[in-house]
Amino acid sequence: MAIKLVTTAAELRAASRELLAEKGGSSLGLVPTMGALHEGHATLARTAVAANDVVVATIFVNPLQFGDAVDLDRYPRTLDADLELLDAEGVDLVFAPSVDEVYPGGEPLIRITSGRLGEKWEGASRPGHFDGALTIVAKLLHYGISAAQTYRAYFGQKDAQQLSLVRRMVSDLNFPVEIVAVPTVRSADGLALSSRNRFLSDKEREAALVLSRALRLIESRALAHEPLDLESARALVKSESRVALDYFEVVDPATLEPLAENCQDTPFRGEGLAIIAARVGPVRLIDNVPLSS
Ligand code: PAF
Repeated sequence: MAIKLVTTAAELRAASRELLAEKGGSSLGLVPTMGALHEGHATLARTAVAANDVVVATIFVNPLQFGDAVDLDRYPRTLDADLELLDAEGVDLVFAPSVDEVYPGGEPLIRITSGRLGEKWEGASRPGHFDGALTIVAKLLHYGISAAQTYRAYFGQKDAQQLSLVRRMVSDLNFPVEIVAVPTVRSADGLALSSRNRFLSDKEREAALVLSRALRLIESRALAHEPLDLESARALVKSESRVALDYFEVVDPATLEPLAENCQDTPFRGEGLAIIAARVGPVRLIDNVPLSS
């Protein structure tokens, strides 16, 4: 394996400097992850490798963004397989720190607050989640800062609210990094890839397909300039007994405010994001599709 693994911030700084010098490189791409990597992460890595001289992936299961200890404990940890996948994609360096390395004094006193944008949708059912996620993203972005002239970080469109919040944080707090969004990767039947899909039984997985089916329905209506009739798409999801719908809305992609008046009876015009979340068996699933009409 050509990939190098480091576990401390000091090693990361030294190794990324060395790699940039070795390659005579001027750009660095950072791919933050929590491990348990799948094809969605491979696509993030591939996109970063295609555009940057040096690519660093981070693997850290961040306790600060988990609401309950059980969820944190059962989050899959698959370091060897993750390293193999990242190596195959041409990633140069992996930073996989311990909790003590990242939070040496325990939980940090000072954190990023995600404000109104972090309280809605996913934030409403996972209080504090986005403050924890933004705090670690801020730290990871700082760890990755190097001598490179160009600094980019890669996030999946699948976690649309996280992506909007990271963009806002970087803009509001002037982080010297370009945020690159990478489209959602789906399996052939339409299910958006997620590290949590492995907890679905066959029947639950089959039921979960209604989420992407309902999103595709909205997307096709938007493309055809038809009324979105969100209510009928919600009814489709609710007809699946194994699926407990939390929300299904069409929102402004930047503010995540509902575009309610544009979604029922009049032809859809403009830009939007259809977002959905549901519990299927033991798993909370989220998905979305960008709309443009
Ligand atoms: O999307 C994720 O995997 C995590 O929220 C992230 C961005 C790595 C922060 O822990």
